[in-house]
Amino acid sequence: MILSRHAVSRLGLALASLLLIPAAQADAPSAARQAQLDHLLLQDCGSCHGLRMTGGLGPALTREALAGKPRDSLIATVAHGRPGTAMPGWNALLDEPDIAWLVDRLLEGYPTP
Ligand code: HEC
Repeated sequence: MILSRHAVSRLGLALASLLLIPAAQADAPSAARQAQLDHLLLQDCGSCHGLRMTGGLGPALTREALAGKPRDSLIATVAHGRPGTAMPGWNALLDEPDIAWLVDRLLEGYPTP
């Protein structure tokens, strides 16, 4: 009981340090936050979408693959996930500017050549 509670709080701390450090001020995430989001993109998104976003369990998220898809609907997908698929919603861990930044990063072409 004590051990498992300890494990849970350690997991919580790890997640908090990775994901919940508040974004700087208004819109764009701070440089430090952007570095964390970049890491998340590779480690978490990449685990399903491929390290080069060329697809895996999830579809390709390259600039070419996303061309023509509305930015707002991509943001909604990342925020809420796609029910009935493996795509989870991220809005419990990421705020709106974070998610918008990730989507813009993908639309610009990630990883940068
Ligand atoms: C557990 C696997 C998994 C993880 C982790 C994951 N995704 Fe997905 N994602 C999927 C799947 C599967 C789909 C396709 C859902 C469908 O069939 O509509 C998807 C769809 C998407 C789409 C829509 C693509 C399109 O063409 O419309 C975007 C954007 C996206 N994911 C971004 C992300 C981002 C950003 C992250 C990390 C924050 C992420 N995903 C993490 C599995 C995952």
